[in-house]
Amino acid sequence: MKPRAGGQAPLDRESRAPARPGAPRDAAATAVDDPLLRIANLHAYYGKSHVLHGVDLQVGRGEIVSLLGRNGVGRSTTAKAIMGLVDATGSIVFGGRELLGRKAYEIAPLGVGYVPESRDVFPTLTVEQNLLLGQKGRRPGRWRFDDMYRMFPRLAERRNTLAGVLSGGEQQMLTLCRTLMGDPELIVIDEPTEGLAPMIVELVADYLRELQRRGLSVLLVEQKLAIAMRISQRVYVMGHGRIVFEGTPESLRANEHVRREWLEV
Ligand SMILES: Nc1ncnc2c1ncn2[C@@H]1O[C@H](COP(=O)(O)OP(=O)(O)OP(=O)(O)O)[C@@H](O)[C@H]1O
Ligand SMILES: [Mg+2]
Repeated sequence: MKPRAGGQAPLDRESRAPARPGAPRDAAATAVDDPLLRIANLHAYYGKSHVLHGVDLQVGRGEIVSLLGRNGVGRSTTAKAIMGLVDATGSIVFGGRELLGRKAYEIAPLGVGYVPESRDVFPTLTVEQNLLLGQKGRRPGRWRFDDMYRMFPRLAERRNTLAGVLSGGEQQMLTLCRTLMGDPELIVIDEPTEGLAPMIVELVADYLRELQRRGLSVLLVEQKLAIAMRISQRVYVMGHGRIVFEGTPESLRANEHVRREWLEV
């Protein structure tokens, strides 16, 4: 492990890991050519509290990338910075455009979907009305109601039910689907599996893979290692507002030091 230039935080970078046999250069290892999302030297603040200290992170086109770490390390803040919801400096380029400095309401229409931790649904509207609102008055994108209902048949059964009476898992599915109705290129999704039963966690994993099959990119903020390791091409680990590891799930699995130091509780 080499110290980061000029900094104190150790950074384990697996960029020079040998390519796996058969892999056309270990695309999963690190720096992505022409990434869809490129975060560089991101600092973020809540008032005087300096929470992110120079985060670098990329998401390639069609990749699922996970951002892992313990409670309070700055994962959600990173997601909020992408969405223009927190004071930040540095650079966040999405599809060739700088996002920093834009207002939150300008960012989603550029093609970034955001599913926050809070799982917001409109409780007094039906499932179907919630989905319709996801279109944000724009023309229908590549996703139809039927796609949602096929992925989550439970939502089809409850299409005329008020969202407020759905179970936590159903509300999570609805939030995911509503975001998709806005036809994003990238989905930033913050702890989608929190508090969900194992079966529903599997549904969420299937859903994210389906998004990937359709060409979307996903930045998954997670605390559960298992799901992240299973579906991601690359993972980042955050500690104290810095990236302390980036690499493939395999390289993280092999790196007991990083897991002990920064992930296991
Ligand atoms: N609105 C806020 N005002 C002030 N401080 C905040 C605010 N939101 C988060 N923080 C602080 O910023 C730090 C990073 O928080 P963040 O929400 O990014 O953590 P996290 O990695 O998502 O972890 P978790 O989701 O488990 O809380 C924490 O110390 C947290 O207390
Ligand atoms: Mg969080």
